[in-house]
Amino acid sequence: MMKKIKVFAPATVSNVGPGFDIMGFALNQPGDVVEAALTKGNRISIKKIYGSRDLSYNPSKNTATASIISLLKSYKIRVGLEVVIRKNMGIGSGLGSSAASSVAGVFAVNKLLNLKLSKSELLVHALNGEIISSGSLHADNVAPCLFGGFVLIRSYDPLDIIKIDYPENLFCTVLYPQIEIKTSEARKILDKKIPRHNAIAQAGNASGLIAGLITKDIDLISRSMKDYIAEPKRKELIPCYDVVRIAALANGAINCNISGSGPSMFSFSTSLEDAERIASAIKDAALSEGLRSETYISKINNRGPVVIK
Ligand code: HSE
Repeated sequence: MMKKIKVFAPATVSNVGPGFDIMGFALNQPGDVVEAALTKGNRISIKKIYGSRDLSYNPSKNTATASIISLLKSYKIRVGLEVVIRKNMGIGSGLGSSAASSVAGVFAVNKLLNLKLSKSELLVHALNGEIISSGSLHADNVAPCLFGGFVLIRSYDPLDIIKIDYPENLFCTVLYPQIEIKTSEARKILDKKIPRHNAIAQAGNASGLIAGLITKDIDLISRSMKDYIAEPKRKELIPCYDVVRIAALANGAINCNISGSGPSMFSFSTSLEDAERIASAIKDAALSEGLRSETYISKINNRGPVVIK
């Protein structure tokens, strides 16, 4: 049996315009790395966290280990594990950082202990881990991180996850301005109820986006990328929101929307050249508002987590 394992789990863009809480896709980079090593006894401990000073070393309060504990409890497995977490994106980035650690944790232990659990069986435990950081159940980061690709959560009760086909030439440019937005806070500012005309518009756009992805209709994708639930409120939390949108759209972007609960924003385009031009333009735009930022360019990552050396 293996003694230790190292897993990379990708960042994710959730909400994807009109898909609040029900859509997300995985990126190739950045992503978190979790290492798990078997130890004597049955204690789960965190040996080291790289890349963040704010995360808890208490295993039941850290998303990476909380997901592992949920899994081990559920299958009544007693084992000792020492875990190392490498955070490669900021907490509160809007890129599914806690989901990536949570998914990496359960994926690693499934492989390490040769449990042969399916991704659907791992999902609930990854969600149990992630709930610790966001305080709410939403699967639109965990599901695409775990399954890879573009994912639709058709229903939460029961969970119904559907992988959606997408155009091969879809590139994503992500801007991560160096500010932090807590998902729990960004959820509090949202209205509990939405007017019927907004519900209709949201359903129309969400359906349009799925249809556009499947039929590879870039113009339909572009027309559908409007959110009536979260973005109108949350844009106030991102000082560079307007200038970044203008710069992205002026440089060939199909859309420009908030990634998850922000502050990251993302644009689709149809060539690497466009994606690079957009990255440079939106980085400059954010800087013009006094915000330094990271940019990432990635196609949609269809694999999800992987074991690495
Ligand atoms: N759908 C969630 C939200 C994603 O927007 O609150 C958070 O990353």
